This record gives sequence, C-alpha cells and structure tokens, in this order.
Amino acid sequence: MLQIETIADLRAACDRARANGQRVGLVPTMGFLHEGHRSLMRAARESCAVVVVSLFVNPLQFGAGEDLDRYPRDLSGDLAQCEQEGVDAVFAPSVAEMYPSGRPVTTVHVDGLTAGLCGAARPTHFDGVATVVTKLFAVVGPCSAFFGRKDAQQLAVIARLVEDLNLPVDVVGCPIVREADGLALSSRNAYLAPDQRRAALVLSRALEAAAQAVVLGERDARVLVDIVRGLVSNEPEVALEYVEVRAAHELTPVDLLDGDVLLALAATVGSTRLIDNVVLSVRGAEVHADLGTGASRREGAGK
Ligand code: PAJ
Repeated sequence: MLQIETIADLRAACDRARANGQRVGLVPTMGFLHEGHRSLMRAARESCAVVVVSLFVNPLQFGAGEDLDRYPRDLSGDLAQCEQEGVDAVFAPSVAEMYPSGRPVTTVHVDGLTAGLCGAARPTHFDGVATVVTKLFAVVGPCSAFFGRKDAQQLAVIARLVEDLNLPVDVVGCPIVREADGLALSSRNAYLAPDQRRAALVLSRALEAAAQAVVLGERDARVLVDIVRGLVSNEPEVALEYVEVRAAHELTPVDLLDGDVLLALAATVGSTRLIDNVVLSVRGAEVHADLGTGASRREGAGK
C-alpha cells in the first residue's frame, strides 16, 4: 500500500494507474476509520482496480467553536485498516499541503442545497466540504467516488456539484452502516460516554418508528416530524436540532410523501452533534424504508 503525503505524488500515482487503463476509485474520509468507512472501500474495490483513500481532517469544513481541535485521530490504526481492506494508496496530507496559503481564495459553493438542514447550524460547512472534495477530484481524477448516505445532505451537495461543473466522476452513494442496536456509526461516537451512547439510540429508534408509520399508511410529513419529536423529547440527554422531510435528491421541502423522500435529523447528546436519516421510497401503497445495514428494513403496502 502506498502512503502518500503530497499532491504531486498522489497525482503521479493516479496518472500512472489511469495510463495503465485502470479505473481509480476514491474514498474521501477524515480518518478515525470505522466499519462505515470500510464499507465504502469495499464498494470501491468492486468496481475499481485502484482504490485511493484520503485521510484529512479538513479545517475548512469546521466552524468556529466546533470540534476541529479535538476531532479524533489515529493515523496508524487507519493505515492498518486500509491495509486490511486491500487499499492501494492512502493520501494523508498536512493542512499546509492542502491549503498552502492558509485559507483558500477559491472555494466551491453549491447554492440551494446548503442553506437548510445541517447548513442552518453550520453555514460554512458545505463550502468546506465542496472545496476539499473538488480538490481531491482534481488531483486523483477518479472514475468513481464513494460517499455514505449517512451524510445525506453532503451526498446531495457533491452529486450536484459534479453535475453542475460537469466533472467526469461517478458519485456512488452507499448504505448507512449501523451498530446492531441501530446507532449509526460515526467517528464522533467516540465522544459519547456510555449513558450518552444509550440515550443516542433514541435517534435511530425514532426514525424507525416514523418509517413504520409510513409502512402503515401515513403520508403526512408533519405527522412523521411529530413522531420523531415526541420520542426524542422523552430522552432528556438528547436535544433535537432539526427533523425534516425533504425530497431525497433535490432536498426541497415535502408536505405529502411521494417518491423518494429523506427523513433527516440532527441532535446533540451532551456536546456531541450526531446526524441520522432514513430514505423512504413511496410508490402509491408500496413503501420501502432504507435505514441501512444492521437495522431492520421495512417494506409493505399502506392502508
Ligand atoms: P467522514 O465523516 O470521515 O466520512 C467519510 C465518508 O464515510 C463519508 O462519505 C460518510 O458519509 C461515510 N460514512 C460515515 N459514517 C458512515 C456510516 N455509518 N455508514 C456509511 N457511511 C458512512 O464525510 C466526511 O468525512 C468529510 O466531510 C469528507 C467527505 C471526507 C470531506 O472532508
């Protein structure tokens, strides 16, 4: 496995692979890897001869007062996990390598999709994500890039930037990986004390309860929001930041469920901010609720 720290070396390695006719797949991460990240590496391996993983805690996507300084890091553990997954190259640059002049003068802003949901509390976050991902695409030149649906808004933002800027990258969304009890895997789960981790389970359970209501015939977005709010309010350690129903790809607000819709939430448990979601595919009376792996999938006919 190649360990690369400079943009020049990464570009050279990826150029070589493409010149040999190999498909290059990119898995961008901020490290402190877990099974969710590893599922993206496996998805990349299925369709790409060369898999590149980036490990970079991107300061540009953290707002003032957020957890940039204490974001968990474990480079040697991450390298071992990449090795186990048969990754071909790991790119772990310094901040100075990615942003040599401090904050970049040129940034990428995806309008429309970034103001609401997580963007309401984190107004500069998605510009930071879009900018670093565009830079990685420019250096690696991947055929495909793999992102988790756990960060549903991030996936929608990246799909839109690729479309709008005509970037030659296939953006692949991969299922949410959960613990057996439903908690969505996240590097930030490391912040949770045992009682907080137990309390955080209310988030996936509330989404599952709302999904179950849809399976039973509910189509009113406000009712789903109320179900989630009601359940989360029973857990005093958990403060809901938002829960909303949006069209899954365009992220426009939805009143009545039809087609693919996203039920997404953010909450804080102590000082830890967590996000989670379920995608509900509604075709008349048919419903498919995709909570990801490790949690139950519900399908059925409505009333
Ligand atoms: P990070 O939070 O490290 O996540 C890297 C990738 O792993 C993202 O695509 C994310 O959606 C995916 N992921 C995280 N938890 C997951 C889970 N439980 N199941 C499935 N996929 C999961 O997202 C970022 O880093 C950054 O914003 C980045 C895109 C790297 C830009 O800096």
